[in-house]
Amino acid sequence: MKVSSSSLNMLRKRFLLMMPCIIFVIRRSKAVAAPSASKTLIWGPGLETNIALPARFFIQTVDTTGRNFTTSPGEKTFEVTFTSPTDPYARIWVQILDRNDGSFLVRYRMYASYTDLHIQILLKDKLVGKSPYVLRGAVYHESCDCPEPSGALWEKNMHCPASFSQIESDLSVFPSVDPDRNAHEILQRFGKRHSLCHYTIKNNQVYIKTKIFMDAFLLSLTRKVKLPDIEFFVNLEDWPLEKRQASEKPSPIFSWCGSNDTQDIVMPTYDVTESVLETMGRVSLDMMSVQGHTGPAWEQKISKAFWRGRDSGKERLELVKLARANPDMLDATLTNFFFFKHDESLYGPLVKHVSFFDFFKYKYQINVDGTVAAYRLPYLLAGDSVVFKHDSIYYEHFYKQLQPWVHYIPFKADLSDLLGKIQWARDHDEEAKRIALAGQRFARTHLMGDSIFCYYFKLFQKYAELQVTEAKVRDCMELVEQPKDELFPCYCARKKVRDEL
Ligand SMILES: *[C@@H]1O[C@H](CO)[C@@H](O)[C@H](O)[C@H]1NC(C)=O
Ligand SMILES: *[C@@H]1O[C@H](CO)[C@@H](O)[C@H](O)[C@H]1NC(C)=O
Repeated sequence: MKVSSSSLNMLRKRFLLMMPCIIFVIRRSKAVAAPSASKTLIWGPGLETNIALPARFFIQTVDTTGRNFTTSPGEKTFEVTFTSPTDPYARIWVQILDRNDGSFLVRYRMYASYTDLHIQILLKDKLVGKSPYVLRGAVYHESCDCPEPSGALWEKNMHCPASFSQIESDLSVFPSVDPDRNAHEILQRFGKRHSLCHYTIKNNQVYIKTKIFMDAFLLSLTRKVKLPDIEFFVNLEDWPLEKRQASEKPSPIFSWCGSNDTQDIVMPTYDVTESVLETMGRVSLDMMSVQGHTGPAWEQKISKAFWRGRDSGKERLELVKLARANPDMLDATLTNFFFFKHDESLYGPLVKHVSFFDFFKYKYQINVDGTVAAYRLPYLLAGDSVVFKHDSIYYEHFYKQLQPWVHYIPFKADLSDLLGKIQWARDHDEEAKRIALAGQRFARTHLMGDSIFCYYFKLFQKYAELQVTEAKVRDCMELVEQPKDELFPCYCARKKVRDEL
């Protein structure tokens, strides 16, 4: 049969007219099942009495047929309210973060302690899951000084892991720790040229020589749990310090960053630690807020690698040069020159700072060292882009738990294979997406505030076990008092029990 060109055009036109309808129908049928109040899942530490801040729980939207939503059912789908039978004016700040994958993160901050806190979650006017959730007994706010006397019970309440391989590995080079010897030796070896901070925790009180940021965290931890007596040194610089090998009697020094050729004991970085303390406070980027700002869905993200930052490492300069030569694959520019000379012909002009949340408009995120490990890795993992991680001698407390090709895509220290790896991700979109989601799941389970608290507690506990002499409050150390909370004093039932005993 002969088909005239005009009827062919008609057919084409008709087909084109049909196209939007087909798309519309497919979309409709995909989202036709409505969210179900009874089937929707709710879980998380914020629904338990004995977990003080940072409190949160999760909502996974499930439809009436029992299937998980994988896209947002709408930002305002659920309504969460807190009430306390003992206080009609309970002061609780609640935030619902839409994670755009069918789940929500609900976080709250209490400004006072309450009894039998009720958490009610509504879908339209139906109660969701097992709502209302009742936190029986006293729920303490962050500034309430109310340490749990039993470390074992506290760890159980917090669901801390039994061990952290990085702690085991770091402490394995110290058969014992002698606070008396350290007090003398560490100051002599490092005290003049480096900034170190000497701490003692005794009877759950924090003593220091010079007041510096970390005491805010230690005070917070001692409000929550009774710590063992310990005496230790914290390195306040970026670089790890102890270059002696295990056989040469290294000194124990706590650092934010470890490296393949030093023996420093790593602890969570000040950045991630501070963001835990300041959650819903003055810090806007933290491990929870980032989950509510992961940008467009995977399919809508730009298939390019993205990087912004300052010139704090040679590799970063190389990365920028590589991007200038391959702008279709890699968008990497410097926001600041501080360490090197700014040669505009090589590195291009400086660009304005980009909000971290905007990074997630791109599918591929580059993590490359600065002076030491780039402390942004926890936040990059928490997004829903795939992370490309630079091989490096530097590491943070959680790197040991990360696996290449599972949680991130590795690339060589000299960047020689980076473009090839980006091309691989473009050619293997499903696999790249799977790695992105595995990295995100890792961050959601291992890098949240409670994990950070658990890590410190475990580290101090294991370290205390190695001490062969008593931790002492040395000359010129000062007691750091807990801040007074005059507006909302707390009545600590745990302390009362102890006093009565
Ligand atoms: C639905 O989501 C929950 C919470 O993330 C998860 O545990 C469960 O396995 C999911 N169910 C399916 C069928 O994927
Ligand atoms: C550092 O050590 C880790 C673990 O042993 C190794 O995977 C990595 O390749 C090392 N990096 C460098 C640059 O030496």
